[in-house]
Amino acid sequence: MYEFRKSFCFFFLLDSVNYYHSRKGWRTKKKNRRIFQMNKKVLGMLACTAVAASMAVGVSAEGDLITIGYAQVGHESDWRTANTKNYEDVFSEENGYELSLIDCDNDNAKQLEAVRNFITQGMDYIVIAPIQSAGWDTVLQEAQDAGIPVIIADREIEADASMYDAWVGTAPYDEGVTAGNWLAEQLDGAEAKILQIEGSVGASAAIGRTDGFAEVMAEHSEWELLDSQSGDFTQDGGQAVMESFIKTYEGQFNVVVCQNDNEAYGAMDAMDAAGITYGVGGDVILISYDATHDGLQYTLDGKINLDVECNPIQAETVKGVIEQMEAGEDFEATTLITDEAFCAPGIESEFATTMTEEILAGRAY
Ligand code: AHR
Repeated sequence: MYEFRKSFCFFFLLDSVNYYHSRKGWRTKKKNRRIFQMNKKVLGMLACTAVAASMAVGVSAEGDLITIGYAQVGHESDWRTANTKNYEDVFSEENGYELSLIDCDNDNAKQLEAVRNFITQGMDYIVIAPIQSAGWDTVLQEAQDAGIPVIIADREIEADASMYDAWVGTAPYDEGVTAGNWLAEQLDGAEAKILQIEGSVGASAAIGRTDGFAEVMAEHSEWELLDSQSGDFTQDGGQAVMESFIKTYEGQFNVVVCQNDNEAYGAMDAMDAAGITYGVGGDVILISYDATHDGLQYTLDGKINLDVECNPIQAETVKGVIEQMEAGEDFEATTLITDEAFCAPGIESEFATTMTEEILAGRAY
């Protein structure tokens, strides 16, 4: 479908030169050349203006909805729920799309199977939010062989960029550095005994945040990482890890870093149950990631000291890339969604914005 629409449009818009020079357009060149010749005969009677108009609203040149297969990580967090809703809103039938979103339940095998099913179904585009960063080469090769463009979204993968068409996501390493810089600024040379609850093992969002924070930690000999374990980006996981940390390290820690808001909620429950105070004026500095609505409410309430944003509103950007592909234009091969960081009232920081009611009211998720 992708090739058909491309060659159809090129013929009438005389834009084939542009296509052959578009980023990553090399992959489908040969196939398009063949279809281009065929379409010249079949499509000569159709009006160019109708094509341009239909493409503008995200409908294929034939008037069909553009089919998108989205292999979503799962439903592990509030962040993920917001991301799913964002895709459903943006890739609506009203906008000219038919979205097949598969909740892969944080199961890597299930996600590979979902992508293979999208290939078999002949989706126009496949979008993958990778659970794991490793192990993608074979299935990406299969998508390439089928001529289906793939966009990697949200997280990163360990594959050569030639194996997929575009990437849209955030920068977890930078988020980790922001958390570290903020902590250094606030502690101003004081000692830190840190417990970290990581995200899902093998997920680039967890790897990046761990590495970025570690980079800053390495500059501070007065900091000690007592322990770091995965809470799988879930509230239950965060609570279970924190309960076990409390058993081992009670009275020995003054910083808890949770790699998403849901883990932070679980850690808060565990600390509440153990009578450990946290947040502004508490025994423990609590750092979280995501900056979802509830996370920022806790930040505004002074329960979370710092919440580093990871923006789940990415579908419009993915749609923009797809529209560029549909139009045969140069498209953005890499788009970074920018993040902010927010700290509790009473805290001033070079690295984070101090929370207010107005900021919370203006948030999209
Ligand atoms: O990949 C983004 C991460 O995945 C978010 O931080 C987390 O909440 C989600 O589950």
